[in-house]
Amino acid sequence: FLKLPSHFLHETEGPGGGVIQGSASEAVLVAVLAAREQAVRRERELHPEMSESDIRGKLIAYSSDQSNSCIEKAGVLAAMPVKLLPASEDLVLRGPALRSAIERDVAAGYIPVICIATLGTTGTCAYDDIESLAGVCEEHGVWLHVDAAYAGGALALDECAELRRGLDRVDSLNFNLHKFMLVNFDCAAMWLRDANKVVDSFDVDRIYLKHKYEGHTPIPDFRHWQIPLGRRFRALKVWITFRTLGAEGLRAHVRKHIELATQFESLVKSDARFELIAPRALGLVCFRAKGDNEITSQLLQRL
Ligand SMILES: Cc1ncc(COP(=O)(O)O)c(C=O)c1O
Repeated sequence: FLKLPSHFLHETEGPGGGVIQGSASEAVLVAVLAAREQAVRRERELHPEMSESDIRGKLIAYSSDQSNSCIEKAGVLAAMPVKLLPASEDLVLRGPALRSAIERDVAAGYIPVICIATLGTTGTCAYDDIESLAGVCEEHGVWLHVDAAYAGGALALDECAELRRGLDRVDSLNFNLHKFMLVNFDCAAMWLRDANKVVDSFDVDRIYLKHKYEGHTPIPDFRHWQIPLGRRFRALKVWITFRTLGAEGLRAHVRKHIELATQFESLVKSDARFELIAPRALGLVCFRAKGDNEITSQLLQRL
């Protein structure tokens, strides 16, 4: 349906796969925690002379200053600073900005762990340049996560195929079915290139968690892929939504949003009192009243 790279899907042998999390925030946190634990293990092998706490004190993550607040929050929860790199004038984060930040930090003794890119930022629905970011992450052994919470639904449309550029090179990806896909809150899909990296990071054992199928089944034990132990049956509401509306119905819904936004964009453009502050992207039109910010604030209050 979304035409994701096959290594994310159940159709291949693995080690990739997908899981439904509650929210984009949880998916990002899972990626950040797993990347952190993988980096700690790698660095302990590379530098046995360093203590674990020394290593943990040097870890650093990256995102853009346009990314959602949940990315900064994931850094707080994971006790790992997230550097919010300034996006370029078009509000996009690209490889060169990441490269110079990483090179500067490595020279200062830091250990880069993960870059969280965004496909469809909250402010303007800007798309970070996943391909150029992937090149830098591959060079430096940095995990690349893509937060496509809103825009991910548009991957279902062939006319939005350019959104898929570079996704075959990312380590993990999330998108909210509770946004464009009409599934009730909460429902956030997450895919991993190598799910073992999450399972190894989160696997804890207790006698009461054992079951007779352990290690003998191709069915993943999702408790190791997430923060809670128990799981809600969110797949049921996804199934019902898809059965009720069908893939074409869901595509038509996304197209309708884009069409309405396009109409609204032309209304704004033809009205001398308003101006666009960023190009329309999918269903998002960012506009303001011309003149003082106070006018826009008043308009917002009235709305
Ligand atoms: C790009 C982006 N990422 C993450 C989020 C957070 O989503 P959630 O409420 O599912 O954690 C949002 C919410 O609007 C968003 O736009």
